Parts: sequence; structure tokens; C-alpha cells
Amino acid sequence: MRLSRYFLPVLKETPAEAQIVSHRYMLRAGMIKQASAGIYSWLPLGYKVLRKIENIIHEEQARAGHIPMLMPTIQSADLWRESGRYDAYGAEMLRITDRHDRDMLYTPTAEELITDIFRANVSSYRDLPLTMYQIQWKFRDEIRPRFGVMRGREFYMKDGYNFDLTKEDALHAYNRHLVSYLRTYERMGLQAIPMRADSGPIGGDDTHEFLVLAETGESEVFYDSEITELKFGDRAIDYDSVEQCQAVLEEFTSRYARTDETHDEAVFNQVPEARRRTARGIEVGQIFYFGTKYSEAMGATVSDKDGNQVPVHMGSHGIGVSRLLGAIIEASHDDRGIIWPEGVTPFHCGIVNLKTGDAEADAACDKIHAALIALGLDPLYDDTNERAGAKFATMDLIGLPWRITVGPRGLKNGVVELTSRRTGESEELPPEAAVAKIAEIYGVA
Ligand SMILES: Nc1ncnc2c1ncn2[C@@H]1O[C@H](COP(=O)(O)OP(=O)(O)O)[C@@H](O)[C@H]1O
Ligand SMILES: [Mg+2]
Repeated sequence: MRLSRYFLPVLKETPAEAQIVSHRYMLRAGMIKQASAGIYSWLPLGYKVLRKIENIIHEEQARAGHIPMLMPTIQSADLWRESGRYDAYGAEMLRITDRHDRDMLYTPTAEELITDIFRANVSSYRDLPLTMYQIQWKFRDEIRPRFGVMRGREFYMKDGYNFDLTKEDALHAYNRHLVSYLRTYERMGLQAIPMRADSGPIGGDDTHEFLVLAETGESEVFYDSEITELKFGDRAIDYDSVEQCQAVLEEFTSRYARTDETHDEAVFNQVPEARRRTARGIEVGQIFYFGTKYSEAMGATVSDKDGNQVPVHMGSHGIGVSRLLGAIIEASHDDRGIIWPEGVTPFHCGIVNLKTGDAEADAACDKIHAALIALGLDPLYDDTNERAGAKFATMDLIGLPWRITVGPRGLKNGVVELTSRRTGESEELPPEAAVAKIAEIYGVA
């Protein structure tokens, strides 16, 4: 992509309404634009990152054996009356009346609709286990939308639902989600710690939230510092293995880690004092096991081996897809801008032409640009007539992890400069070698 043909409306001034760094940088980098309170347009750069995050989630869900689908954003109130949540949900639910005076709503979550689909189509234990999920817009009429995409009113969420014959099976589904979420967040360059949480309006007794530690987080968290040393990494896991998934759950949840809602001072004080930490965290996901709460209320039963009709055991599992952009920026930035982890960066690499219009520099940039594209990579080439300083400032702000700088002086010696956004370190090398290095970093060599 040539910057001269792209839409990247970067702002020089810091917008006054943005209180936290991720919100400031998302606005300044031209990623989002507020449409109304808590509702945003996703401009091209922001949309690209959103898609990257979404793809990682789809890939990891597929690995765990979960099935993608899509449900509507506008739903009838009738199903929500069946579960009892139409009244219980309160003012956060955006209620809409259609032209026939029917009560509709903009979905804040989808337990009811998925349960309705299930009960209409599944009647035997032989069709279980089943886990389906969607990535879809949600609406919650938050009283105080703030921090940009962190607490929006309209936001993008992955929500998944498991249906199992027994509690035991459903707890395996719970553990499987925990494992797949650990992998998902790590691929985005994040450490998200599972913490014992409160179930809120979803209901149920087993639930963990995944929190990214950050000063600007809305939740107060308490944990044993040993937990931050755990890493899932790229270890192999058989998602069908009850033992393997259970072992990961135990490994990642046996140390103290709780949000303020479930914090227990007496239990916390059993952690050696030197390891006790109090901090703030951003909730980027949550998993629930809630048993037969919805299946009983809505008559979602199957026949078991003996022919008895039994309500299915369910859980639901959410990832805050749009919030993740904010969380990643909170976890990875400096005073010049965003520093994207390679896994989610909007462009793999920036190319800065120090002297647009210079025949040799233009030709070298074109060649590097074409070579990266031929490798299946997605570079952003700044071919504009801006000053070099302004080009660097834009690249730093939008946070591409690698930059190739091309100018007549270097080219005389046959070299360009390759710079890491994270470390600031640069090296001079021939253009082909710079391309090869980028290819190696992204595993396409
Ligand atoms: N208002 C919001 N804006 C952005 N993301 C949100 C919002 N509310 C929830 N999320 C994200 O969706 C995920 C799943 O939602 P859920 O756990 O049901 O939300 P909550 O805990 O706020 O009730 C949360 O972990 C969070 O990352
Ligand atoms: Mg939650």
C-alpha cells in the first residue's frame, strides 16, 4: 500500500477528550472516529487490526474444534422474556420498537437465541458435545462509555456457547476454552491472566475473567506474582483430552489471582508477602459454566442413553475483540506512539522514502515494496512528499514493528536501514537482505 493512496488521517494534536494512552493513540493514528458516545467508525488502519485480531480468534477456535456461525444483532424480546432476562437486564439493554409495535432489542449477548436454535434442532445426546460461536457486534447502553473502544456502547465480541450432556462434559468445554484463550491472547503478544470472577447477569457458579495488567485497567486485581511467570507458549495440546485441558487449568489457576469482586483478604494473606501484588487490569475475556440455567428455562433438552429427557449443561465464553485493540496498546507503546506486536500489526513493515522524487530512491522503494508483496507480506510505503522527520513521526505513531528507510546517501553505498520500532535499533544492509530479514521475522522466507 502506498501512503499517498491510503486513508490515514493522523492528528498532530492530542484530542482533549481522550484520557488514556490507547484512546489517544487510536484517535491520533487515524484508527477510529467517534460517531456518537461510545460508538465508533473503524477507519482503515483500525479496521485492519480488528480483522487481524478476529482472524487469530477464528484460527484458535477452529483448533479447539468450535464451530463459527452468525446471529443477528437485532432480536425479538420474546426469547428474553422466556429466560426472564428481558426485565432483569435493566437499562443496559437497548430496547427498540418496530413499526408493528413489537418489542425488539439490540443484542448485548446471545444465550437465548443460541438456546432457541439448539432446542429447535438437537434432540439426542448423540449430537453432543457441541460448541458454536460468533464474532458479532453487541450493544450495551453503558451509563458511562469511556476510554474509547475499552468501554464502548457498541462493541465487537466473540461469544461462544457449549452444549453438553453432563456437568463433567461441560466442565471439559470450560477448560478447553481456557486453554484456547491462553493461546489466543499470547498470539496477540498479550499476557492475559485468568482470575476468579463474579458471574454478573450471565449467572452461574464457575467463571474466570482474563485480565491484562495495565495501570489504566478498570478492575482492581490481586495476585500471586508467580502467575506472571507462566506462559502457554507453543506446546502441543489435544483439546479432546480431558486430562490435558484439566492440567492446564490447574497450572494457570492454582495460584491466587482474583478481581476485587471475589477478592478474599484472608486467602490472599496466605500467599508469601513478597509475592502478593495489587494492581489494575483490563478484562479482555470471560468464560462461564452455568449449567442448566437457560436450558431449563427454555426447554432445551435432549434424550440421554436411557431415553430420559434431560436439560443440557451449558457455558458461554466471551472475548472483547474491539477492546483488545485498546488493551494491546496499553500494554505496548512508548511516548512516540503504538508498538504493535507482529501478530496483529496492521502492516508488516513500513518503507520510508527519504527523498521522494529522487529517481534512484523511488526505484529502490518500488522494488522493496514489490518484493515484500510478492512474499505475501503487506507493507506500507510512505511515498509522500513530507519531510523525513514527519514521515518517521507517523511511522512511530502508527507503530509498525519494522521500518525500512531508503535514501540516496545509503543507496550510494548499496544499503538501506532496517529499524526495530520496539528497540529503536537500526542496521544498514543491502535492500535484498532487508527484505529477507522481514520475510524471516514473519516466517515467509
Ligand atoms: N462496553 C464494552 N466495551 C467493550 N468491550 C466490552 C464491553 N463490555 C464487555 N466487553 C468485552 O466483552 C467481553 C465479554 O463480555 P462479558 O464478560 O459478558 O462482559 P462484562 O464482564 O462487562 O459483563 C468482556 O470480557 C470484555 O472484554
Ligand atoms: Mg465479563
